[in-house]
Amino acid sequence: MSDQELVAYSTEGDVAVLTINNPPVNALSPGVPEGIRDGVAKAAADDAIKAVVVIGGGRTFIAGADIKEFGKITSGQKEPDIGFNEILNDVESCDKPVVAAIHGTALGGGLETAMACHYRVAVPDAMVGQPEVKLGIIPGAGGTQRLPRLCGVAKAAEICASGRMVKAKEALDSGIVDKLVDGDLLEGAIEFAREQAATGESPRRTRDIQDRFGNEAEYKMMLQGIRQECAKRARGMQAPQRNVDAVELAPQLPFMEGLEKEAEIFKECLFSDESKAMIHVFFGERTVAKVPGIGKETPRLEIKQAAVIGAGTMGGGIAMNYANAGIPVLLKETEHERLDKGVAIIRKNYESTVAKGKLTEEKMEQRMSLIKPTTSYDGFENADIIVEAVFENMALKKQVFGEIDEIAKDDCILASNTSTLDIDEIAAATKRPASVIGHHFFSPANIMPLIEIVRGKETSDTVIATSMDLAKGLRKTGVLVGNCFGFVGNRMFEQYQRQAQFLIEEGATIEHVDKVMYDWGMAMGPLAVADLAGIDVGIRVHQENVDQIPDGYRTALVGQKLFDMGRYGQKTGAGWYKYEGRTPVSDPEINQLVIDTAREAGIEQREIGDQEILERCLYSLVNEGAKLLEEGIALRSVDIDMIYIMGYGFPAFRGGPMKAADIIGLKEVYDRVCHYNDQYGQWWEPAPLLKQLAESDATFTQYDMQRAK
Ligand code: 3HC
Ligand code: NAI
Repeated sequence: MSDQELVAYSTEGDVAVLTINNPPVNALSPGVPEGIRDGVAKAAADDAIKAVVVIGGGRTFIAGADIKEFGKITSGQKEPDIGFNEILNDVESCDKPVVAAIHGTALGGGLETAMACHYRVAVPDAMVGQPEVKLGIIPGAGGTQRLPRLCGVAKAAEICASGRMVKAKEALDSGIVDKLVDGDLLEGAIEFAREQAATGESPRRTRDIQDRFGNEAEYKMMLQGIRQECAKRARGMQAPQRNVDAVELAPQLPFMEGLEKEAEIFKECLFSDESKAMIHVFFGERTVAKVPGIGKETPRLEIKQAAVIGAGTMGGGIAMNYANAGIPVLLKETEHERLDKGVAIIRKNYESTVAKGKLTEEKMEQRMSLIKPTTSYDGFENADIIVEAVFENMALKKQVFGEIDEIAKDDCILASNTSTLDIDEIAAATKRPASVIGHHFFSPANIMPLIEIVRGKETSDTVIATSMDLAKGLRKTGVLVGNCFGFVGNRMFEQYQRQAQFLIEEGATIEHVDKVMYDWGMAMGPLAVADLAGIDVGIRVHQENVDQIPDGYRTALVGQKLFDMGRYGQKTGAGWYKYEGRTPVSDPEINQLVIDTAREAGIEQREIGDQEILERCLYSLVNEGAKLLEEGIALRSVDIDMIYIMGYGFPAFRGGPMKAADIIGLKEVYDRVCHYNDQYGQWWEPAPLLKQLAESDATFTQYDMQRAK
């Protein structure tokens, strides 16, 4: 495609219109910035032209730099492009007014382009923002220097450090946008451009604006608050702080020097591990939606009525998801008392959202009215999907699937929320295994954004495609996985939990193990997580799957003792920790229990360092992940990463366990796995895929790319 086509030049009387045509989101791929510069230059040289409008073709203005190009730069395939700043400076230097006409979104380099134009008009539902921080970087084309000149230092720092989208009205009120256009955007922009030209004054250049920075003492205090907030919200990340650093320079330095400093920080961030991880996550979020063999042409079923069986912890949350999406849902329990309890919890959850001002009373009642509590199967014959969320017990699940097989309509999807059990065995309890699938939600199901969608060996493409779309409709991310004990997430989690427990039995304290993993970035340490999920849940899973453990293999001992003591975790006020409300407090009794248990079992207790804790917890995840990948249970390593980030509190800025391993280097990871295998054997047998990639100096990401070909 020629540059001309990427940015089309046309005229409307005395106004030049530059239309960007780089679908789907008009990213600033090579040729687009140059096309804008050439268009502006052409307009500047034409005496018949009085002003210029820059507008996006298709559904949006400009979504920013082409993120795919960043990987090429950091991997050395391409030189960093410093020309974009010069191009924007050329645009800003034009003597005729240049107006950006914004619809959809103006993000990152898109907003930077708009700010290099002299004026900005937008439709009321447009949004602008500097989301670079979500890619582990800062704006690199003047965003940190021009934005504070428009909306003040404090506001600019907050926008850049959060990466949030700013609605058009707020952008207008804060000076980022000059006018909202209610009718046709192009017409409105042309009219505005003509008005500016008619004033006869030189166009207003953002770089020259000096009177909007705000009061220094005030913004300094606000920046401190923003930094503190970032340190909490984005614990372990450097990009939010670097965004504030760069914005803070705007009032201190002449514009061109500010740009230079911005470029330095941008480069530092771009080459950081954090940025590699975050860019991996950006594409990962989109990749998981793509399932080989399933396309637009795969038929989908319509989901207009849902039913959920079991109104316990999970069933209630799942029903809320359907109600939130406007889909009526039947909610079945065995008896009225449990049903009432389940419904009361749902109401309480909604009420707390109302109390936070995030939902109106009216909407809450609407949603409650979509949930129909019942103790019978009446109405199930009309359901398009039935989701089973009864106890984790194979016999019970089979009984329930046998029952629904009798009453569900022919094309109804039969989904199980099992967290570990064999989907094929459950499907075999029906006469329609092609309709059976796992929909593994995460607790709390009304909040956690992930659904592991488990494909049985006979699950039909239609049922898979509908499930993936449905996940999106429920505002979740669906990740398709294969069928095995624990699927992807919980099979890996077992290894992680096992190592955490082994470590304390060998001498690390509970608090130390949790602290190392928390400080590394996990939302919670492994033992605090076990308390949250329920010690009983973990132990029951063990009991149900005990035959999965090879003979003679070491098993964790203390967890079983906690279970026997009724210490189920947060729900009973005590587990690995004691709880004051939801705050964990160390419990000397359990620390002693660990020591006594180790002594009885003949496990020698020793000093264990941070590095060993990190390695054994992290590499046990990676090694199991590699096995899942090789077995085809996980489609791609990035699917595993997204499951861990969205379902298990794994830090996005580490990219997920597999990307974290790539960044550390697979050779190093493999060597340490071998080391632990030599030391302990059993659970540490290296995954053949890990060995193969390590020995060929490759990465999991390269393995994904290779297989996609
Ligand atoms: N670069 C490359 N590809 C991009 C892209 C970008 N900036 N933005 C979106 N895409 C791709 C997506 O990967 C996706 O590709 P696929 O169909 O092959 O999976 C396709 O465009 C459509 O994107 P979405 O599915 O995300 O479409 P939505 O309509 O849901 O969302 C959006 C649109 C809000 C624009 C969203 O895509 C988005 O947030 N994009 C990223 C915006 C961003 O981070 N911009 C800053 C870039 S960094 C920068 O500009 C640096 C500068 O300071 C120099
Ligand atoms: P729960 O014990 O809170 O709720 C199960 C409910 O099912 C109970 O209220 C019970 O009365 C009801 N029930 C049992 N038999 C029934 C029947 N025949 N008809 C109707 N209702 C029946 O259990 P929870 O935690 O909600 O787990 C449910 C399923 O979700 C399990 O398979 C579990 O493995 C899975 N899961 C649990 C997660 C968790 O964190 N709790 C996370 C992800 C999945």
